[in-house]
Amino acid sequence: MDQQMNPWWKKSVVYQIYPRSFMDSNGDGVGDIQGIISKLDYIERLGIDVIWLSPVYDSPNDDNGYDIRNYRTIMQEFGTMEDMERLIEEAKKHGIRIVMDLVVNHSSDEHEWFVESRASKDSKYRDYYIWRDGKAEHPPNNWGSVFSGSAWEKDEQTDSYYLHLFSKKQPDLNWEHEPLREDVYQLMIYWLEKGIGGFRMDVINFISKDMCLPDGAVHPNSLYGDGSPYFMNGPKIHSYLREMNDKVLSKYDVVTVGEMPGATTDDARIYTNPDNNEVNMVFTFEHMDLDSGPNGKWDVQPLKLIELKRNLEKWQHGLHRVGWNSLYWNNHDQPRVVSRFGNDGEYRELSAKMLAICLHMLQGTPYIYQGEELGMTNVEFPSLDDYRDIETLNMYKEKIEQGILHDDIMSSIYSKGRDNARTPMQWTSDGGFTTGTPWIRMNPNTKEINVEQAINDSSSIFYTYQKLIKLRKQHDIITHGSFQLLLANHPNLFVYKRQSADEEWLVVTNFSDQTEQLEWKICDVPLKSLGLIISNYDKVQINEKIVEIRPYEAFVVAYKKEIEN
Ligand code: NOJ
Repeated sequence: MDQQMNPWWKKSVVYQIYPRSFMDSNGDGVGDIQGIISKLDYIERLGIDVIWLSPVYDSPNDDNGYDIRNYRTIMQEFGTMEDMERLIEEAKKHGIRIVMDLVVNHSSDEHEWFVESRASKDSKYRDYYIWRDGKAEHPPNNWGSVFSGSAWEKDEQTDSYYLHLFSKKQPDLNWEHEPLREDVYQLMIYWLEKGIGGFRMDVINFISKDMCLPDGAVHPNSLYGDGSPYFMNGPKIHSYLREMNDKVLSKYDVVTVGEMPGATTDDARIYTNPDNNEVNMVFTFEHMDLDSGPNGKWDVQPLKLIELKRNLEKWQHGLHRVGWNSLYWNNHDQPRVVSRFGNDGEYRELSAKMLAICLHMLQGTPYIYQGEELGMTNVEFPSLDDYRDIETLNMYKEKIEQGILHDDIMSSIYSKGRDNARTPMQWTSDGGFTTGTPWIRMNPNTKEINVEQAINDSSSIFYTYQKLIKLRKQHDIITHGSFQLLLANHPNLFVYKRQSADEEWLVVTNFSDQTEQLEWKICDVPLKSLGLIISNYDKVQINEKIVEIRPYEAFVVAYKKEIEN
């Protein structure tokens, strides 16, 4: 197959690094670029060929780097531009491309564009942002910010409001304004010329707003209106992405993944169809929202496996031979998957391996979030003072003001807070992340869960990931085979087939701590020619009648299709 049909990123596995929490080389308690360079051998050993680096640009860190003050310089705490160039070069020697985070729905309010924009209504940069007059003493519309409060902030300097879908230190850029778009393309070129391997684009489907900025519906238990219908997948999103592709991306052999909350499979078919020249893949949020109740993310509900299966099936079918899926269980905004969809107690190892097998056998490009390969877990810090994330802290304040009890709020933070993913990487039994005081506390279970331990144990979760990555390189059926869900209504088993012209694979996973009975004939899999590809228990026993699937068991078998005669 040619490069067009079979680009390198279809066989790649991406490892996400959250630099602040990955490895600190100078003892200031904050991870840095030299720290990452020192761990490239480890990442290569896992089999990774692409690193997605969360933002390393200069930033006042209101939202840990997702508020960029200067797109062309490096955050001092993380190092220098020379360090960054060295990282790109050293990674290349390890066969690894560096994908950077492109955060251009908004900048920091300390970016020079905003400083100038807010200074005067006549500023050359005024239209780089979205300014409106208030309505009497009220903001221009009722939208709420993702990080609590109104999405508008009044700026005394010109007595007008600016839009910020995230924190008030993250003003939204105005993509309607052509000079802004040109400046964004120039900064992309600046980085591409340094030899990076692509971009992960932060909330990129928010960049086109309905410029009438209508009020949003106010959902029950909500203080503000929901503006999302007017900024998610907005009116000009496809034309902006095509322009970006035409002017910038088409000139480089890179990968792009758009973070797209609220994108459906129909949207993703447009975004990722190669004929449209927009992005290579998107991050869907649909499977991440399944354990949220009607009142949103903090309204934690148990996951229903049946819904997860239906959802993943929809994405597998929706993009097959049309576009391309990204596959992920967690990232720096999501809780740790082993605590969320697995079992972080007795079955931590088994369930972490099961989740890995389940995800990596799907069609798409898998993303591993740092520490996932160790089965790192959520954390429960006793005091709110131990939390750092702006989303969590703002939400806590707002809910307390609404009269919600401290313990109830803490319990949602324990399940859903973003700091679950942001505790430092666990390198050794005493941490190994820093010689100083880490910017956020370590998870105390570093004693048992750490890289040193994982590397020394040939049956660790790490080696399951390593094997899955190897399998992807060896077997085209993982990349190109079609997908068929079996037992769609089973509440605990997730069973599916991957099919190619001459071969089929059966993937069996148990999402529960119970032994489940699988009636083999339902799978329609011949016992002869059965080969075991991977499993998380030592011995897999299959007979033609009932197969017992043990707690959190996962296995994959390959077989030839029976030729009928
Ligand atoms: C999505 C990023 O992943 C998240 O960490 C950030 O807070 C928001 N976008 C705003 O940039």
